[in-house]
Amino acid sequence: MVKVGLIGFGYWGPNLVRNFASADNCQVKMVADFRIDRIANISRLYPGVEITADPLDIINNKDIDAVIIATPVFTHFDLAEAALKNGKHVLVEKPMTSSTKQAETLLNIAEQRNLTLMVDHTFLYTGAVDKMKELIEGDSIGKVKYFDSTRINLGLFQPDVNVLWDLAPHDLSILFHLVPYKPVSVNAVGISHTSNQIENIAYLTINYENDFIAHFNCSWTSPVKVRSTLIGGDKKMIVYNDLEPSEKIRIYDTSYNHQNDEEKNRIMVDYRIGDVQIPKVSTKEALASVAKDFIQSILQKKQPIANGQLGMDVVRILEASQVSIKNLGKQINISK
Ligand SMILES: NC(=O)c1ccc[n+]([C@@H]2O[C@H](COP(=O)([O-])OP(=O)(O)OC[C@H]3O[C@@H](n4cnc5c(N)ncnc54)[C@H](O)[C@@H]3O)[C@@H](O)[C@H]2O)c1
Repeated sequence: MVKVGLIGFGYWGPNLVRNFASADNCQVKMVADFRIDRIANISRLYPGVEITADPLDIINNKDIDAVIIATPVFTHFDLAEAALKNGKHVLVEKPMTSSTKQAETLLNIAEQRNLTLMVDHTFLYTGAVDKMKELIEGDSIGKVKYFDSTRINLGLFQPDVNVLWDLAPHDLSILFHLVPYKPVSVNAVGISHTSNQIENIAYLTINYENDFIAHFNCSWTSPVKVRSTLIGGDKKMIVYNDLEPSEKIRIYDTSYNHQNDEEKNRIMVDYRIGDVQIPKVSTKEALASVAKDFIQSILQKKQPIANGQLGMDVVRILEASQVSIKNLGKQINISK
C-alpha cells in the first residue's frame, strides 16, 4: 500500500485525488492547500482523508510515502525538493520545474535516494497517444518526418508563465514519447498583447540533426479551440484531433515520392492518396493510468512512462524557447 499526500487542491488537484482515491494499492492520507476553504469539505467525499493548510504537514509526515504536487509551476521545485529530501516519492504536475537546473537537481536527489520521480504528463496515458506509439513503433507510417501541433483557444492568460510554458508541455511530452530523435536546437517567436510582456501567442520550431522537424503553435487568443497534431511518416500520415470524442486518430494512406529530373533541373513528385483509417482507441481516463503507473513504479522500483528525465527534456525546450523569443527567434542550441 502506498500512502500519498496531495499539495494543491485548485483546478487540477481534485482530479488527482479522485483518481488516486480509487487506485489499487493506494491510500490518500492527507490533502494540503493554503486556501482551507477549498479543502474544508473533502472528508464528505473522501472519509478518512485529513486536511491541512501547511504543505509541511505532508512533507514531514512519517506515515506518508509519496507526495503529489499540484500547485503553480513556480512552487514545484521547492516542494518537490523538500519532499524528496524527506524520502518521499514525488509526482509533480507539468511542467516539472521553472528551469532545467532545478529539474536536474530533482533528478539527482531522486536517483541518489532511489525514489520515484514522475511528472504528470497526462497525455502520455491517453488511448490516442498509446495508439500513435504503436503505429510509429510498428513502422506502420514509415520513417517519421514531421510533427506539427496546434493548441489554441481563448485561454486563461497566466500571470507568471507564457503560452508555451502553459500549453506546449502537453505536445512536447507527446513528441518525446513518440519520436526517438534527439533535438539539437530551437527557434521560437512570440508576442505579448498585454503590458506584462508575457507572450500570449507563440510559435516554436525544434530542429534535429536528421531531416525531421517539429513545430508548435500555441495561443490563448484564438476564437476557436483547436487541439490537433499532424505526424507525417514516409509511408502514411496521422491526424490526431483531441477534440473528437472517440475518432481521435485518422491514418491517411498518403505519401509522395520524388525524383530529380536532371535534364530539366527540377524535382518530379508523385503523390499517392489512399484510404483513411480510423482505429479504435481506448477512452479510459488517462489520470487513472497516471495513478497506476506512479504506484506501480514505486512498488516495482521501475521507471514510470512520464519519468523525471522526460520532464526535464520538456523544461529544457521551454527554457531555450524563452531565450529564443526574447532574441527575436534566434536559433538556440540545446546543450545536454
Ligand atoms: N496535467 C494536466 O493536464 C494539467 C491540467 C491543469 C493544470 N495542470 C497543472 O497543475 C498545476 C496546478 O494548476 P491548477 O490549474 O490546478 O492551479 P490552481 O491555481 O487552480 O490551484 C493551485 C492550488 O494550489 C494551492 N497552493 C499553491 N501553493 C501552495 C503551497 N505551497 N502549499 C499549499 N497549497 C498551495 C493554491 O491555493 C491553489 O488552490 C500546474 O502545474 C498546472 O500546469 C496540469
